Amino acid sequence: MIHSGSTQLAGVIGWPVAHSRSPRLHGYWLEANGIDGAYLPLPVAPENIEKAIRGLPALGFAGANVTVPHKEAAFGLMDRVSETAKRMGAVNTISVEADGALYGDNTDAFGFIENLKAGARMWDRGRPALVLGAGGAARAICVGLKDADIPTIYLVNRTRARADALAEDLDLGIQVRDWDQKDDLLGEIGLLVNTTSLGMTGKPPLDLDLEPLPTDAVVTDIVYVPLKTPLLITAEQRGNPVVDGLGMLLHQARPGFRSWFGAEPEVTPELRAFVGADLL
Ligand code: ATR
Repeated sequence: MIHSGSTQLAGVIGWPVAHSRSPRLHGYWLEANGIDGAYLPLPVAPENIEKAIRGLPALGFAGANVTVPHKEAAFGLMDRVSETAKRMGAVNTISVEADGALYGDNTDAFGFIENLKAGARMWDRGRPALVLGAGGAARAICVGLKDADIPTIYLVNRTRARADALAEDLDLGIQVRDWDQKDDLLGEIGLLVNTTSLGMTGKPPLDLDLEPLPTDAVVTDIVYVPLKTPLLITAEQRGNPVVDGLGMLLHQARPGFRSWFGAEPEVTPELRAFVGADLL
């Protein structure tokens, strides 16, 4: 790709950032839309995060994504934040405004719900959802589920105190249960979400007997390496609709692209295949 003197700039700030699939993803959209833009990996060590983020307007960047471990620090460096970012206490999408002000948003909850809507047509939203895990991803997913008007959200985590703290902090009426109780909840739910690292390549699988789970309940995993986790394979074998985690990554990127490059990007099977080439 040859750039002109007026190429529109964006990128992803993380540490490390070499594993990020975002440059590949945005690069595909830039090319597909014929846009004179560049989206770069921006490795920024924690001690440099303030200088780097405050430097975006000075460098003429349209904005940036922020990933691990900088999402919370970025939140504290914004001039303005969206309501969603405020609820999350974390920013993953920065836009530089016309006057150079930094606007922070968080699109993880949006990405989760859009992926679910795209992947699960039979999803019965009247039944409770069960979320496993209580880290940053679980926080985004609980916010997304609440925004999607899911009446009951159960949250379980190995370390219960973290789930209690998350539920209290979000104040969305989330019902925390013990990790041991997750099997008993399966019979009544319409959606099962794994946000733990269990099932990821190199980690043990999630030890969960799906027997009581209704076969129309949607099963989703935010892990996407591998694309089909043991949980998704088991769920699919017994006939449950399954949604993998790659789509969440693709959908959470849409608002940033639109803001920086001024075009509405599309999540297509070709994009999925391109970004997940080593996973599919
Ligand atoms: P993130 O913020 O990206 O979600 P994280 O904070 O590392 O990541 O969270 C990982 C999740 O996986 C946590 O909920 C963790 O449970 P704890 O809070 O008890 O640590 C969960 N997890 C990791 N290994 C686990 C295991 N062997 N059994 C059960 N849960 C596990």
